[in-house]
Amino acid sequence: MLRIHELTKKYGTLTALDGLNLEIGEGQLHGFVGPNGAGKTTTMRILATLMKPTSGAAFVAGTDIVREPAKARSLIGYMPDFFGVYDRLKCSEYLDFYGRCYRIAGSDRQRMTQQLLALVQLEDKADAYVDSLSRGMKQRLCLARSLIHDPKLLILDEPASGMDPRARADMKGILRTLREMGKTVLISSHILPELSEMCDSLTILDHGRLVFSGSVGALADKMNGNAPLDIRLREGCGEEAVEAAAARLKELPYVTEILQEEPCLLRVRVNGEEDVCADALQQLILSGAPVCDFHRAPMNLEKVFMEVTGDA
Ligand SMILES: Nc1ncnc2c1ncn2[C@@H]1O[C@H](COP(=O)(O)OP(=O)(O)OP(=O)(O)O)[C@@H](O)[C@H]1O
Ligand SMILES: [Mg+2]
Repeated sequence: MLRIHELTKKYGTLTALDGLNLEIGEGQLHGFVGPNGAGKTTTMRILATLMKPTSGAAFVAGTDIVREPAKARSLIGYMPDFFGVYDRLKCSEYLDFYGRCYRIAGSDRQRMTQQLLALVQLEDKADAYVDSLSRGMKQRLCLARSLIHDPKLLILDEPASGMDPRARADMKGILRTLREMGKTVLISSHILPELSEMCDSLTILDHGRLVFSGSVGALADKMNGNAPLDIRLREGCGEEAVEAAAARLKELPYVTEILQEEPCLLRVRVNGEEDVCADALQQLILSGAPVCDFHRAPMNLEKVFMEVTGDA
């Protein structure tokens, strides 16, 4: 549904987006994650045809967004990170106005307006003025607006920012419904755990570069493959025993870092896979270290985010 090829955007000397390649299949809910300034909004504005890339290309359902922006716009619904809502318009009038902009016929417009207000749970606000809505309600109205022309691809730039936990949960429910409707969704956030809960796949961007793209499971596997080993020695085994174990580990060529987390807990980073872990355990046992627990400490997603987007 969406294919991005070597997409690059430069603002003067700053490369905000650096050769991004990405494919998102039809019906996928794809998370776009990265810290402030990573290039998420830049990418989304290019996809929404509001800005031209410096180089590279992107295709929505086969349509080149740079060469055929008008056709691309009919396929894309875009919810910007900051949006204006007109005062003195009621919610239903607001959606009707956007329906007119897309030249949707009167009866269809009315039907869409009702359906969309129901989808974003604003039915009871149909006759309320837009400026009387809370921020979370305005965000939902803006989401409804982006759906008025029944686009295939939705580009949502931080749709849940500033929402309370209840509203975020509602937003997740709406996104699930959109997926059931067969929409393809690209949604950005800088909260990795939140996106990973609802997305099929993720792309992590940092300083304009892709640092990971794949399923949530693949991200966890990748990160846990690099996770440190936690080695616990018998409680009360004494400082000497811990020092001896650390000294033995230090001699092993694949050990890159040893930290004493607690009196009897060593956190060890190794360069290698399971064979290396097996060898480390064997060497410790042979040296007489009283090992009672030896495992890779799984990283939570918050840590993963910090790790993959860290300058290191
Ligand atoms: N119009 C512009 N002119 C110059 N530089 C810009 C412009 N828009 C964005 N940038 C720069 O491009 C980089 C990427 O910005 P972008 O807004 O795409 O990041 P983002 O991932 O959306 O960040 P955030 O999480 O804060 O929304 C930043 O360094 C930003 O300062
Ligand atoms: Mg942004």
